Amino acid sequence: MRNVTLDTVTDAVIGSLGKFGEIDDRQREIMTSLVTHLHGFVRDVNLTHAEFLAACDYLARAGQLTNDKRQEFILLGDILGVEVLVDMLSNPVSGNESESTVLGPFYRENPPVLPKGASTIQKHFDGEETVYVEGYIRDADGNPVAGATIDIWEDAPNGLYENHDPDQPDFNLRGRFETDENGHYALIALRPVPYPIPEDETAGELLHYMGHHPNRPGHLHFIISKDGYRPLITQIYDADSDWLDNDSVFAVKESLIGKFEPAPAGSDTDLVLRFDFVLSEAQAARMQAAE
Ligand code: BEZ
Ligand code: FE
Repeated sequence: MRNVTLDTVTDAVIGSLGKFGEIDDRQREIMTSLVTHLHGFVRDVNLTHAEFLAACDYLARAGQLTNDKRQEFILLGDILGVEVLVDMLSNPVSGNESESTVLGPFYRENPPVLPKGASTIQKHFDGEETVYVEGYIRDADGNPVAGATIDIWEDAPNGLYENHDPDQPDFNLRGRFETDENGHYALIALRPVPYPIPEDETAGELLHYMGHHPNRPGHLHFIISKDGYRPLITQIYDADSDWLDNDSVFAVKESLIGKFEPAPAGSDTDLVLRFDFVLSEAQAARMQAAE
């Protein structure tokens, strides 16, 4: 189309979708909405050309920063509340199942496989508090989920995940556990401390532009999976941590807050955290049961 105007440019772009190459319904839906909202945003703020060029430069720098250790676009999505929004849309809670929350950028595949009750601690820190974490994984009817895989990861008392800290051993404070025949899991870890998400470079620029702080409350990450159930990506938050009410990535849910209690005298750890999870059946299993 020639001679687009302020009044016709949005329809011109939408009308061009699929004209010179096949696109499916989902591509059409996504691109129609993207163009509508993006043009709406540009009109709303009357974006200047200098601001457009600054945004292009910003995105280019975010891309250049991204490597196998730093995923800048997940971080930017987290700061904007997009990951938590996508998570809530993808994992609606309709019954008593545990709530999910953001994965974040620090998960590593294939953590060390550890027996029930083992410790993820490979390095000790001054002032650390050790914690025995245990609980049950059940289905929505209260039946134990035996043989569920639990990946866990957390930051060290210096606020760093091991893959961002050259002074920590590989896979420190990470592990893969399995529930026993009663759906019980147990492990030893460190009390997680609040930490700032990376606030240098483009993530920091966005935080500052928004007048935000970078901090997250202390939390333990979990991915719980078992065939036939929806994988649960979630976190447990320390009830006594700072930042529970203004997490920089908007990911705290009341139902995911756990109390770290002093361990009974004679225990191997300083603290105990008991936390149970409820898995929901995978969609396919739910549909089969309904047939
Ligand atoms: C995290 O919890 O590891 C995390 C989540 C979102 C952004 C940065 C870190
Ligand atoms: Fe984290």
